[in-house]
Amino acid sequence: MQTVMGSTMAAPLREWVCWTLLALASARLLLPDVTLSAEQLLTLGWRTALPLAACLLLYKALVIYSVPMNHVMGPHSLGPVRDESTKNLWNRQRATKNHVNQVRQRQKNARMPPPYPNAWFMAMESRDLRPGEVRPLDILGYHLVIFRTKAGEARILDGICPHLGADLAMGVVKGEDIECPFHKWAFNGLTGEVECVPYSKQNKGSLQHFAVDAWPVFEANGAIHVWHHAEGEPPSWHPPIHPHIASGRYKFCGRSEHTVFAHIQDLPENGADNAHLAVLHGKIFTDGNDLEERLRWRWIRHNWTATWEAHPEQKHRFTTRISTSFTVLNMFHDLYHNDVVVEQVGPGLVYIEFNAPFGSGVVQQMVTPVGDLCQRVVHTIYWDRSYGLGPLIAKFTFLAEVTQFERDVRMWNSKDHLPLPALVREDATILKYRRWFSQFYSENSRRPLRPVDSLEL
Ligand code: FES
Ligand SMILES: [Fe+2]
Repeated sequence: MQTVMGSTMAAPLREWVCWTLLALASARLLLPDVTLSAEQLLTLGWRTALPLAACLLLYKALVIYSVPMNHVMGPHSLGPVRDESTKNLWNRQRATKNHVNQVRQRQKNARMPPPYPNAWFMAMESRDLRPGEVRPLDILGYHLVIFRTKAGEARILDGICPHLGADLAMGVVKGEDIECPFHKWAFNGLTGEVECVPYSKQNKGSLQHFAVDAWPVFEANGAIHVWHHAEGEPPSWHPPIHPHIASGRYKFCGRSEHTVFAHIQDLPENGADNAHLAVLHGKIFTDGNDLEERLRWRWIRHNWTATWEAHPEQKHRFTTRISTSFTVLNMFHDLYHNDVVVEQVGPGLVYIEFNAPFGSGVVQQMVTPVGDLCQRVVHTIYWDRSYGLGPLIAKFTFLAEVTQFERDVRMWNSKDHLPLPALVREDATILKYRRWFSQFYSENSRRPLRPVDSLEL
C-alpha cells in the first residue's frame, strides 16, 4: 500500500534528508566547540537526540494536520486475496495481471451491459488544470482533449484533429480556442468549430463541417465533469453543487485514487447489496483491506444495517441510509452509533455525508470508465473548517472509508458480472438497483468489445 502525504513519492525521503542536514547544522551551531566527527556525533547522547526527536515528531504532526492526504493505489495492488502469499511486488503485480486477464477471458462470452452509460463522469480534478493548460483525456472509449481557457473555463473536445489527425492534446490554448500543433488550425473550445486556418483564404462558414465534437462540461465540488450520451442528447440533469464546498465552509483534506477492473455497473451495486456489509466490512478498518481475520482485532466488530431507496422525483438518483455501530468483546453492543447518508447520482458520482458530534464533512466518490472493464475511482474528502481538529478527524475518517472501499475493490477485481444472478428474497434491492441502472443505457450504447483486451501492467 502506498500512502503519500504531499504531492510526490519522493517527498517523505526529501523531508528526512532535509531534517538530518538541519539537525547536523543546528548541532554545529549550538555546540561550536565540538568537532563533529562521526564518532562524536554518536556520543552526543540523549540530550541532543531527544529534542531532535521531539522536533521531528512535532513536524510530522504538523504535516499530517496541514497537508491534504494523497492516497494512491497502483493497479497491481489490490489483487485477489489469496495471491498475497508473496511479498515480492513484481510477483504480486504479475499475479494480479494474470488473475484479471483470466476474469476478462471468462467475461468474453458473458452478456455484459454496455460499458459506457449515458451520464456525467469526472474528467479531471479541478486543481490539475490551470488556465492555459492542455491535457489528453482517454476515457469512455474516446481520445479527448481537455484544456482551460485563459478566462478559466474548462473545455473538452474530441482529441483528434480532423485535418490530418494530429493530437490536439499537444496543442496550445489561444484565448478561448485550442490550436493544433501540426498546421495551427484553431478550434473553438465551446462549440468545436474551426475558428481559423492560418494559411487558407476560405471563409469561416465553409469550414464548419470540419468542426470537432464539443463535450458538455460542468465544474463543481473541485472536479470537472463531462457529459456522455450515446445518442448525442444534451444533459437531462447535473451533478449537485455541494453548498458547503461552494461556500468554502468545508475544506479539502485529502484524496485517493484507485483502478478497478470491473464493469461500472458492479460498483454502485454495492449500495443495494445489504448482505455483503457484515461479511466484507464487519472487521474494523485497522484490520486492513484484505479479508484475513487478525487475532488482535477480533475483539471489536463493525455492525452495519442499510436501506436502499430510489429517489422519488429525480430518477437518476438513489439513497442508501447506513446505520453503523460497534460491538466490543461480544458483550457491549451498539456502541458509537452513527448514521450515514450515501447519495448515488447517476452511475459515477457518490456523495457520503458525515454528521457526527466530532464534525461534519463529505466524501465524494467519482467513478470514470477508462476502458470496457476498467474504472478510475477518485475519492475526495472535505471537512468543516470550524472544527480545530477537523483535518485530523477528516483524515482518520477518510482512511477508514478508503480501507473499507479497498475490500470491495478486491471483490470487483476478481468477480464476474452475472447478467442473471441467483438471488434470494433478501437480495430484492439488487434487482431494483439493476432496473434503476438500465435507464443509463440507450439504443446506440456501444456493446463491449470482443474479445476483451488483456490487461497490460
Ligand atoms: S493536423 Fe491539425 S492542423 Fe493539420
Ligand atoms: Fe462494500
